[in-house]
Amino acid sequence: INHRPRGGHTMLYGPLLAFTAAWAPAALMPCVSRGETQQHMPQQRTNSRAAVMSTEGLAAAPPRIIICGAPASGKGTQCELLKEEYGVVHLSTGDMLRAAVKAGTPVGEQAKGYMDRGELVPDDVIIGIVKDRLAESDCEQTGWLLDGFPRTEAQAKALAAAGITPTKVLYLQVPDEMLVERVVGRRTDPETGKIYHLKFAPPESDEVAARLTQRSDDTEEKCRVRLQAFHEHMAAVESCYQSLISYTDGTKPKAQVFAELQKCLE
Ligand code: AP5
Repeated sequence: INHRPRGGHTMLYGPLLAFTAAWAPAALMPCVSRGETQQHMPQQRTNSRAAVMSTEGLAAAPPRIIICGAPASGKGTQCELLKEEYGVVHLSTGDMLRAAVKAGTPVGEQAKGYMDRGELVPDDVIIGIVKDRLAESDCEQTGWLLDGFPRTEAQAKALAAAGITPTKVLYLQVPDEMLVERVVGRRTDPETGKIYHLKFAPPESDEVAARLTQRSDDTEEKCRVRLQAFHEHMAAVESCYQSLISYTDGTKPKAQVFAELQKCLE
């Protein structure tokens, strides 16, 4: 299945695009905080780190970022900003699976029941899809931002066994009691993929408001099932990335969270 970034488009750059040579080593430094349609974008964006060329003409390895956190902790919201800033391919396993369900593919048919109940899709359904997608040329050339994977120890170990290692793991921390309110108020624009919240991030116009949709798993009951799965598995995933993980307070306003994440990536 193809990926569909939540922001509605993916930044893809040609092989000439390089990150500053200083970027990758910095990304490995520990952070102080703890707590389907692909569009090709041939023009070089000068306002982004992704557009910076090494002065020596040497390309540093592109960033490979994992973002994790509980349901509704703000992963998708921050990924909209991160992919814009760093020019990486955003891969959301939730979006990939929802697209597969919508398209009625065999993977979608296998995943649907689990997703409707708020449960994790079996590891063997999702692991192969992610590994294949990460091996595609756009991910190798511009780097990637993996959102919602790995979610279990088996998924983290499968990535490691395939030689896929992140340069940084970002973890958004939000207490459970805030997450339910975020989940039930979340809405998505099916045209742009942009994420809204009826209270915290309302739509800009009546036109957008009229077309917003709500995910079928965004009820309080299913949110609690999703939270249980998250708490059951996350400690094991964290332990796989101890030296690379940075914790950020996800309860702050969106722009402030983004600024913190940028610091973690510097
Ligand atoms: P997935 O789509 O990945 O769902 P999730 O992890 O539960 O995360 P969400 O998308 O709900 O939340 P988010 O953190 O992206 O928050 P958002 O930015 O939207 O997975 C869905 C299902 O697919 C799973 O349940 C499972 O069945 C399956 N699946 C996926 N990956 C899998 C895997 N690896 N293995 C097995 N199964 C898998 O924000 C939420 C709301 O809060 C929005 O309304 C937003 O506007 C608001 N908000 C965001 N930031 C802020 C802020 N700073 N302040 C106030 N409001 C904010």
